[in-house]
Amino acid sequence: MLFKSLLVVGTASASCLHGLYRRSEGEVEIPHFGYEDTFGPLNWAALAPENEACKAGKNQSPINIDSTVSLATEKPILDIPQQAVEFENLNTTIEVVVNGTTTFGGNQFSLAQFHIHTPSEHRINREYFPLEVHMVHKGVGHLPNKANTPTADPTQIVVLALMFEMCTQSSDPLIASIAPHLDAITEPGSRTPIETGIDFSGVLAVIESSNIFQYTGSLTTPPCSEGVTFLAVETPLKINVPDYNAIKKIVKYNSRLSQNTLGNDNIIAVAAASGGATAPNNETVVEEATPVEGAPVAGSTVVISEISGSPVAEPMVGLVQRGMRFRS
Ligand SMILES: *[C@@H]1O[C@H](CO)[C@@H](O)[C@H](O)[C@H]1NC(C)=O
Ligand SMILES: *[C@@H]1O[C@H](CO)[C@@H](O)[C@H](O)[C@H]1NC(C)=O
Ligand SMILES: *[C@@H]1O[C@H](CO)[C@@H](O)[C@H](O)[C@H]1NC(C)=O
Repeated sequence: MLFKSLLVVGTASASCLHGLYRRSEGEVEIPHFGYEDTFGPLNWAALAPENEACKAGKNQSPINIDSTVSLATEKPILDIPQQAVEFENLNTTIEVVVNGTTTFGGNQFSLAQFHIHTPSEHRINREYFPLEVHMVHKGVGHLPNKANTPTADPTQIVVLALMFEMCTQSSDPLIASIAPHLDAITEPGSRTPIETGIDFSGVLAVIESSNIFQYTGSLTTPPCSEGVTFLAVETPLKINVPDYNAIKKIVKYNSRLSQNTLGNDNIIAVAAASGGATAPNNETVVEEATPVEGAPVAGSTVVISEISGSPVAEPMVGLVQRGMRFRS
């Protein structure tokens, strides 16, 4: 119900967080977008009017995180009680619905879920990672300050992004918590409880020890709403080969391509304006073709019915392969 009313309010930033406020009962809702063909990222804007930002937004995620992206000036503080959770296959990702509270920048945010991308969506100094976890938070609207005045924007989204790299030993406890349950959610739309909950100890430790990049981008899935705060942890966590292969077999591929430098034109808009991949190389065209009137043009059909004034018995029909060139 809360999910529905948020949609009505029209806070696009909250509407797409499939699963964000989904009840823990009922069916898993499978979103209508994908990563292939006309359902894929290049065409997301055509799938629904509210997806306009996917092709027009100038602060889209993911990005290649380079030296122009600043470090967060403080660490987020996560408070996630031990709890039984739901693990779900949304077809576009696999997701764990889990409650928690994160304090950052003087505001509180509620953790709604974390989900997985393979390969990583963000890159750090152009390097990609085999897997990225997004921990999705929403502003709670109130700070427990003395006056109890609403100071946090309830539509504000904060995503904590965690990179993973391959290892030969044990996976990080977060991965180890979900790995035994992967077999139960191989089918899109399936779900399973994880009664023992999720071990976030590795996540808490890396937040303490690592640099954390901060920038304002967008949801990496439709409707690509902007104004999303990304906190990307630089140091990767570990995932071992069997766990990685088991996850990849289910998630398959769900990574949006790197977007434009923040503030520049959307890369889809740029490609459309320049004619995209089918654009001719103007300079070559200009240099090559300045045909005079009547000269054969490549692709046209010619009929040869006489040669040097003498009619031929059978007129010959041919396709001009190369236009004649004339200097202007
Ligand atoms: C899952 O995604 C694939 C690829 O986009 C699609 O072909 C398939 O119909 C989806 N399955 C469901 C149950 O929506
Ligand atoms: C998470 O919080 C919601 C809303 O407060 C509550 O209904 C739900 O039972 C909680 N889930 C768990 C696993 O604690
Ligand atoms: C082609 O023409 C467009 C529009 O005049 C121009 O902006 C672009 O730079 C040209 N591209 C090349 C490869 O010359």
